[in-house]
Amino acid sequence: MSVIRSILTGVGSYLPDRILTNAEMAELVDTSDEWIQARTGIKQRHIAAQGELTSDLALAAAREALTDAGLEGRDLDLIIVATATPDQTFPATATKVQAALGMTTGAAFDLQAVCSGFIFALATANSFIRTQQAKRVLLIGAETFSRILDWEDRSTCVLFGDGAGAMVFEAGEGEGSNEDKGILATHLRSDGRQHDLLYVDGGPSSTQTTGHLRMNGPGVFRHAITNITEAVNSSLDETGLNAADIDWFVPHQANQRILDGTAKKLGISTDRIISTVGLHGNTSAASVPLAYAVARADGRIKDGDLVLMEAMGGGFTWGSALVRV
Ligand code: ACO
Repeated sequence: MSVIRSILTGVGSYLPDRILTNAEMAELVDTSDEWIQARTGIKQRHIAAQGELTSDLALAAAREALTDAGLEGRDLDLIIVATATPDQTFPATATKVQAALGMTTGAAFDLQAVCSGFIFALATANSFIRTQQAKRVLLIGAETFSRILDWEDRSTCVLFGDGAGAMVFEAGEGEGSNEDKGILATHLRSDGRQHDLLYVDGGPSSTQTTGHLRMNGPGVFRHAITNITEAVNSSLDETGLNAADIDWFVPHQANQRILDGTAKKLGISTDRIISTVGLHGNTSAASVPLAYAVARADGRIKDGDLVLMEAMGGGFTWGSALVRV
């Protein structure tokens, strides 16, 4: 049976030049390199320069992904930017990227699911492609979380960083089997009752300010592994695949302990985990495509590999995607 598949044809990434180490962090708040590494695995993070906006990061990653796919902006039908740190309340950061890429047709919009944003965007792109509403979609996860951190709160400011990752998906044909290239399954979840464990204490409608990130770290940690495992198992069940079939596990990069705990619970060996949290910190919606780009560039992820992506974030939101690349 011939089916339409969303096939990954290009990848790109961008990290701001400025690196903030744990040692420098210890000069800002009462913390230490030892504490941060032991609790999170994070060694450093990148911070956007003054005046460098989420759209700038997004555009740099997008240009690289388009070049990788051999496409130009005008070839696209749709751009989705997953971000919780847009340039402005409106219009969408995606429309700024659209204009900068010279794309004058199609549509562009932002998607807000915080750290899960890229997985939500990927599932959305897959729906557009499979229902033949779009043939070529550019997905971007881009964040400047440094702008919404409380730099006096050591329990949160040490965790996050800035960056962007992008992927191009194009419609292609498959046989409807798990050997097909492309997105094989996605599974999305949310639970608004968990709002108070991770949120920003501002917004246009509530305070008319941007606000700062607030988090109950242990509370988030308690839900993370259970939720992520559930979303992954739903995608595996849908396809009949199992953990042993997965070549690479590309998780949201929140905390090395969450990555290891999730892989263990799923039965995925540690040498199959792509981990960039040590060098990037948690870049929210950018983390999955950034991690993928690193492993693709260094040759670990190869054509034909089965890649499992997952994320969890504020809301709570969480989800998974199985992609044969
Ligand atoms: N440096 C030194 N000490 C610190 C720091 C810091 N940066 N931050 C907190 N502490 C102290 C606390 O004050 C506390 O001190 P006390 O015992 O004297 O009260 C002690 O360390 C332990 O604090 P906990 O919050 O219990 O530490 P925990 O082991 O839970 O680690 C962490 C905290 C790293 C935030 C962990 O809970 C975590 O990773 N949670 C998941 C959160 C997350 O990843 N969020 C990202 C967004 S959601 C997502 O992406 C999945």
